Amino acid sequence: MDYRAVVVTILLACAVSIAAVHAAEQPTGNVPAAPQAEGMGAQQSVATAAGSVLPPARAYGDLSQARVEYGRYMTLAGDCVACHTAEDGKPFAGGRGIETPFGTIYTPNITPAKGYGIGGFSDEDFLRALQHGIRPDGKPYYPALPYPSYTKVKDDDLLAIKDYLFSLEPSRNQPPATRLRWPFDMRDLLFGWQALYLHDARFEPNPDKSDEWNRGAYLVEGLGHCGTCHTPRNITGAKEAKDALTGAIVDGWYAPNLTSDLSEGLGAWSVDEIATYLASGEAPAAESPAAESAAGPQTAALGPMAEVVHQSLSQLATSDLHAMAVYLKDQPAKEAPPTTAPVPHQLSEASYIKGRTLYDSYCASCHQSHGQGLAPYFPALAGNEAVTLEEPNDVIKTLLLGAPSDPAEAYSPHVVMPSFGSIFTDEQIATLASYIRANWGNDAAPVSADQVKALRGER
Ligand code: HEC
Ligand code: HEC
Ligand code: HEC
Repeated sequence: MDYRAVVVTILLACAVSIAAVHAAEQPTGNVPAAPQAEGMGAQQSVATAAGSVLPPARAYGDLSQARVEYGRYMTLAGDCVACHTAEDGKPFAGGRGIETPFGTIYTPNITPAKGYGIGGFSDEDFLRALQHGIRPDGKPYYPALPYPSYTKVKDDDLLAIKDYLFSLEPSRNQPPATRLRWPFDMRDLLFGWQALYLHDARFEPNPDKSDEWNRGAYLVEGLGHCGTCHTPRNITGAKEAKDALTGAIVDGWYAPNLTSDLSEGLGAWSVDEIATYLASGEAPAAESPAAESAAGPQTAALGPMAEVVHQSLSQLATSDLHAMAVYLKDQPAKEAPPTTAPVPHQLSEASYIKGRTLYDSYCASCHQSHGQGLAPYFPALAGNEAVTLEEPNDVIKTLLLGAPSDPAEAYSPHVVMPSFGSIFTDEQIATLASYIRANWGNDAAPVSADQVKALRGER
């Protein structure tokens, strides 16, 4: 690969790390009480419980009710409805926007309408999309469709999902086309991304573990795509697998460490407590970091996780939730990728860790892990006087609005800095600005959320 191609790959991985984020709605407060699924085994009709979010299964063609029911259950486990339904839209008719700094990715209609949805997909087309990330016309999909997880799912389970989707009423909804900014609009470049980051292989049970453990692993790693949110995506750092489920930032929410780490992870939770959380969003009192960080006493899952619980997990069989809990509980304690650098004197440890997590997820792919940049494409932030000016206004504006503001003064004619104003809160912009101003030998004063707020207003 030539140098140029490497850079493009970095850019893409960067786009994608942001794109893979769910476009989460604002916190809705408590998760509505979900019906407790009873009985064992996905084959049973547990998923038809009242209050469910998916249209009921119905037999059609030569497919039995049981087969379509099973497909519906797998569809719930994959939370397909979350992304493929617009606000107030028909389930699976598509059109939900997933924001990235490079443009909005719209989810397609996956009802069986020919020409609008996936009515024209053969079984092979469907498997190729979900396991290999390839469209029927041979072009790659953006990994905003979580095929890096779905690739682990057995053919038959995915085809059951297809059978269920094909039992639905076709919708002629035509979601807006996805147009990302150059170079992210060039789908062919995603082949490079797939070669590097897609481990195209079905789930292999671990013979040393119980059937229950393996069932849990299959659901967590495959259809549950929990790692999409809970695994850090620092492509410049260590390999992902090592950091699996150690926690990451999603749309400004912290999706916590799910390993058995005692201080940060689920180490202090029992298997039953984990299963209860998955079923209801209710965390064990006080011990949960999520409970602590929220204002006031708080026991319910918030933000993107509330949606996962409501639309997917709360609809699954208790036996499956228990299996997932068993698997999670058996994950050896792993801390989020360790820091090697000491905390700069201007920052509290908490602010440093927040800044680092945000930086690693959203900035490092371009500006590199130590702020050293990548000439001639991305300026260094370390030792950059524009970053450490006493007046932090320019840094804040760059983050809010993107750069360059004047194309004639662009650092490089080929790349731009995306704007982060609509993705981050004032607090987060301040945390990031403070982090880059105090790190890697930079020595400037921190920035406050009020300073960011004032500049936002000025636009
Ligand atoms: C995190 C959001 C997300 C989830 C969850 C998700 N999808 Fe998607 N899906 C997408 C996006 C985004 C695309 C379009 C990607 C692109 O344009 O490259 C897509 C594309 C597809 C396509 C291709 C449709 C076409 O017309 O080319 C199919 C089929 C599909 N998804 C099925 C599923 C199924 C089945 C599930 C659940 C197992 C699922 N998706 C879950 C986001 C999601
Ligand atoms: C769309 C992103 C997303 C997905 C997908 C997701 N989570 Fe979460 N998860 C979160 C966020 C964000 C939180 C923190 C919620 C809060 O602050 O209340 C969380 C919290 C949790 C917690 C509570 C941890 C604690 O310490 O409080 C558990 C357990 C959990 N998730 C398990 C899972 C499992 C298992 C899956 C896969 C089936 C999953 N999550 C999928 C985003 C996600
Ligand atoms: C897609 C790649 C990309 C990403 C992601 C990115 N930047 Fe940039 N950044 C650039 C480019 C390119 C420039 C130079 C823009 C110009 O021509 O003025 C830049 C400029 C800057 C500058 C101004 C430097 C100067 O010399 O004026 C700051 C500060 C900055 N970025 C911080 C960040 C932070 C913090 C993040 C994470 C939230 C981030 N960037 C994410 C590409 C990126």
